[in-house]
Amino acid sequence: MPRIAVLTAGGDTPALNATIYGIVERANALEIEVFGIMKGFGGLIDPRVPHLHLNPLFTTIPELDPTLGGTILGASRTYISGQETELLKAVGGRLTRLGIEGLICIGGDGTINGMQPLSEYFPCVLAPKTIDNDLGLNYLDEPNDWVREDGGDKKQRYIKRESRDVIELDDIVNYATPGYATAVYVVAQSIQRIRTTAESHRRISIIEVMGRESGYISLGSAYGQPDLILIPEIPIDTDHLEQRVRELYDLQKHCVIVCGEGCCDETGRQLGAISASVDPAGNILFSGAAEELKRVLMQRLGDSFFRDRRRHDTADQAIFTRKIGHTQRGGRPLLFDRFHAVQLGGKAIDMISQGRTNEVATLQYSPSKGFTLDSLPANKLRDRWGQIHPRHVHPSFYDARRFQPSRLGRKYLLPIFTNAIGADDIEHVRMGLFTPGNLSSRYASVNVDIHKRLRFLTNG
Ligand code: F6P
Repeated sequence: MPRIAVLTAGGDTPALNATIYGIVERANALEIEVFGIMKGFGGLIDPRVPHLHLNPLFTTIPELDPTLGGTILGASRTYISGQETELLKAVGGRLTRLGIEGLICIGGDGTINGMQPLSEYFPCVLAPKTIDNDLGLNYLDEPNDWVREDGGDKKQRYIKRESRDVIELDDIVNYATPGYATAVYVVAQSIQRIRTTAESHRRISIIEVMGRESGYISLGSAYGQPDLILIPEIPIDTDHLEQRVRELYDLQKHCVIVCGEGCCDETGRQLGAISASVDPAGNILFSGAAEELKRVLMQRLGDSFFRDRRRHDTADQAIFTRKIGHTQRGGRPLLFDRFHAVQLGGKAIDMISQGRTNEVATLQYSPSKGFTLDSLPANKLRDRWGQIHPRHVHPSFYDARRFQPSRLGRKYLLPIFTNAIGADDIEHVRMGLFTPGNLSSRYASVNVDIHKRLRFLTNG
């Protein structure tokens, strides 16, 4: 296979460039040309197909730096639906005219949904990425646990039946996705920094983290030692939460709570006043779970709780919220993410050059063998109606009584995080941030140099 293409779809994550780098380095060894398609599936929909050659003379272009966050190819949440058959055929035709014989998509569940219809017209495989760590399965037959119900509003609802109650770590399909470790690193550090304000000013801090309906980022936030962790998979027992907040506040005069953006209350209502909108992949856009939780705690504790303790005038002053937001998704990837992203990129090249299509490269873990690479037909991730659901934190990973990871949850986190930070990651901060040159030179965006390399498929 002399020429393949690669694109990055969905939200950006820290290790995307590392995955592209892994693809290109492996392709150099196999003497395969790699074309990068700009702005995800959006670049394929554009009849000019903006693209660049990532390895002229089988040498990786210098702009492709695996330590650089984001993606030099640009990202978008544009997808092609299976109903758009004419467009799918046109895209297949455009790729063929570029001499491309296979496509590697780097993305998460939304990207597989975008890739699946295309894979019927063109060979495609997926290299995984997502900070949410929700691309994968807790065990191989998990998609069969989903049932479909009539939502009443002419929409179908998918509901997860009880999970298998016990799992082993090596049952997990795609143990961790590149981007997750770096996101948790940012979250854990932020918790430590926000803690000092809560502690000094005798406040309750509610920190909202990303992850949509999956609580992996919340779970991993345990490294920052928050007092209470709330994950979207387990509805909040508000009475129990209030009781723990009161106890902790009386004991240590402050409290730090981490709340996943998709957390819900006992009735299943998602706290983050869900805006009516969804993104092009059909994902609900969340806003304000922490704000809503603050409202609930203000109502339950009342001003009197703080006045009686002579700490604050009002509950509103005593409880503050912070969203960690896009800092979770940005910046230099940690060693763990970089290393495995590069490996997964190489695996994706091997898969596509062996003529496989509609498959996903995976990162497996077993206590005896450590991390290994594998692959899986994308359909294995789908339920019987063809839907891919975000992987949820398995109930056995979370102790709802303590609002902390369970023993197994801690065992799950250890192999990812124990050596996740490389010495060079620390050195990068030491040498890079306060370098005098930062004061005098403007930020040099890689987009400027990438733009000089852009090519187009001209005749539509
Ligand atoms: O899926 C990754 C993710 O970062 C989610 O955790 C979050 O809800 C969403 O993307 C935010 O998307 P956007 O950058 O489009 O606001």
